[in-house]
Amino acid sequence: MCTHRYSEISLRVSLAFFLAFLSACGGSYSSGGGNNNPPPPIPTLAQNAAKYNLKIGAAADSPYLGDSNYASILGSEFNELTAENEMKFASVAPTATTTDYSGADALVSFAQSHQMAVRGHTLVWHQQVPGWVSAASSTAQLNTILQNHINDEVTHFASKIYAWDVVNEAFNDDGSGSTPATVRSTIWYDSPGIGFAGQGTAYIEQALNWAHAADSTAKLFYNDYNIETQNPKSDAVYLMAQDFTNRGVPLDGIGFQFHVDLSFDNASVLSSVASNFQRFAALGLEIHITELDIRLSDSSAASLAAQAKLYGELAALCVQQPKCTTFQTWGFTDKYSWVPGFFTGMGWALPWDATYQKKPAYNSLLTGFQRCR
Ligand code: XIL
Repeated sequence: MCTHRYSEISLRVSLAFFLAFLSACGGSYSSGGGNNNPPPPIPTLAQNAAKYNLKIGAAADSPYLGDSNYASILGSEFNELTAENEMKFASVAPTATTTDYSGADALVSFAQSHQMAVRGHTLVWHQQVPGWVSAASSTAQLNTILQNHINDEVTHFASKIYAWDVVNEAFNDDGSGSTPATVRSTIWYDSPGIGFAGQGTAYIEQALNWAHAADSTAKLFYNDYNIETQNPKSDAVYLMAQDFTNRGVPLDGIGFQFHVDLSFDNASVLSSVASNFQRFAALGLEIHITELDIRLSDSSAASLAAQAKLYGELAALCVQQPKCTTFQTWGFTDKYSWVPGFFTGMGWALPWDATYQKKPAYNSLLTGFQRCR
């Protein structure tokens, strides 16, 4: 039996869609108008998700906003966006004495004019670090640099960004059995680090505290890949999250990236995702699917159908977990996907193709979001 959170239904949801929703989730309504009423309009992804107060977003880059197809799909199908690149350290602080928020600001203003929420990505990462930062050699310098960076950027976007990926990809892909993964050696941790080398997750805690000091209302996230299922890497993140929540460190949720391929569509993998989500939810943390794409090795009808099935299953997994509050894809059109550049021979990873046609994945997402919590 589904329960509905009527009070959370967004004003953007049309009456027609609302009635369709009641019907789809087991409610009933009478149109009172016989059979001559026009069918309800096909809802967008965001309209489907609004009934759960679920944010449906995509990563975007501001130069593409000039592409009218891109802007019109982004602004109508999604109620949230994140910066694919333009909030990273190298983008916002190209030199030691200059900041450049122009790209990120353009994304925020697009979002605001389309009633979309904005997710911040990312403050502390070992990649896309500006050269002047990499050249800084002392821990004391780096500590000051990182504190200033977090403070400047979070303050710049205060009240405009509802959630931040404060730290990204801080764990290694190691560990085995019941031995959790280790903290990755990075410029921020121990090479040379900001002053917490050898102290595990203490530097992550410091970054969260700095972000919280700059904007106490933004939700703060740890974000990583290969933590979707229960495995030694997600175990390490879980132990950190448990420790932080126990001690009141400002951590509101975990971002699960979900850069996956078709091997992910496996019953034991999907059930592991559900139980993994549940253990983080039990800590009181929010779950965000942050960078979903499903890469293929070809665009055959069979591959697109298999991809669609998996997109739908992941949408349903999120809908069925009440603490899953944001569902983002990493881009939305194959035209600009990062996948072909990073995974040799792979591509076709997103719900719209390179000519902005909806792929089977799109309808499958709609169906997935039509499930009941
Ligand atoms: C990627 C972008 O998509 C690319 O355009 C860029 O060249 C490199 O970074 N995990 C993350 C994202 O957290 O920031 C990465 O984004 C993809 C992997």
